[in-house]
Amino acid sequence: MFMTKKKRIFSGMQPTGILTLGNYLGAMRNWVALQDEYECIYSVVDLHSLTIRNEAKELREQRMSLLAQYLACGVDPEKSIVFMQSHVSAHAELNWVLGCYTYVGELNRMTQFKEKSAKHEENVNAGLFTYPVLMAADVLLYQTDLVPVGNDQKQHLEIARDIAERFNGVYGNVFQIPEPYIPKVGARIMSLQEPTSKMSKSDENKNSYISLLDPPQTIVKKFKRAVTDSEAVVRYDLEEKPGISNLISIYASVSGKTLEEIVEEFEGKGYGDFKVSVGEAVAETLRPVQERYQELMNSKDYLNDVLKKGAEDAARLASRTLDKVYKKVGLL
Ligand code: TYM
Repeated sequence: MFMTKKKRIFSGMQPTGILTLGNYLGAMRNWVALQDEYECIYSVVDLHSLTIRNEAKELREQRMSLLAQYLACGVDPEKSIVFMQSHVSAHAELNWVLGCYTYVGELNRMTQFKEKSAKHEENVNAGLFTYPVLMAADVLLYQTDLVPVGNDQKQHLEIARDIAERFNGVYGNVFQIPEPYIPKVGARIMSLQEPTSKMSKSDENKNSYISLLDPPQTIVKKFKRAVTDSEAVVRYDLEEKPGISNLISIYASVSGKTLEEIVEEFEGKGYGDFKVSVGEAVAETLRPVQERYQELMNSKDYLNDVLKKGAEDAARLASRTLDKVYKKVGLL
């Protein structure tokens, strides 16, 4: 696998439930689109999920489900390496080394840590704090050029770059310095109920997010209930009209139309028509994904074969970097 000189991509998602429209538009669509042009490595980052308490059985199922969601969205194991993070022990090993080159002060600045520790006050564990180091290890192990993610992961990539530059500064060119790859539209899809917060699958209010597996009627219903404003004019204005602006971004992202074209299309029409159009366009985009997902979930042997091959290919690439690191620091 990977005999070319193409640039390399790495990205991952946590197996903590069904993906949302935010995950799909912010990251997954780029993962799929970039597969021909780049060498892509996509991981179900199951080690990251241990920062919250899970039932073992549930986590086991969610990992397989997320793999099926990747493939249903169009990640192709014939083109890309697809694997489970915990199957390649180099992630945990490099995590330890890099942790010794990361400062507590840097980790203290991570906004996601602050948000998550405020939300789970009863379980602010050390893993949650050092989570960005494991993410840096994921990316740096594969000499990654580009990391397709949504906007919320930008800060984590900045710290990964800082750690890599620090390490390279001491030991020479060990790591490729990765760049984030963030879409122009759809990088931050907001909650349908509280359009100033990010759409998130852990939100207690199910009307606030679209799940990749929501049936079409549910999708349209959730868009009809989306929180907007009282102006009744479809125009893009993040400050004054965060709800409508979010819907415009979603519609642009699934239809390929520009923001201006959408504003023109709905001139003189009410929010009701607009919401239904957005809902139907999203449902239409997700329909083929849902069909493939069901098929894949009935093909467990195939999914296991994908994981076995993915782990072998990923481990081979990862060990090259880990050997180099161990040699540099004096462990080989
Ligand atoms: P995770 O699992 O929270 O999210 C997966 C991807 O979805 C994007 N995303 C969004 N994009 C737009 N709008 C939203 N509302 C939205 N919500 C989520 C995220 O930016 C992400 O790209 N730490 C990562 C997982 C990770 C990783 C990595 C990513 C671990 N190691 C290495 C890249 C490279 C995370 O928790 O993503």
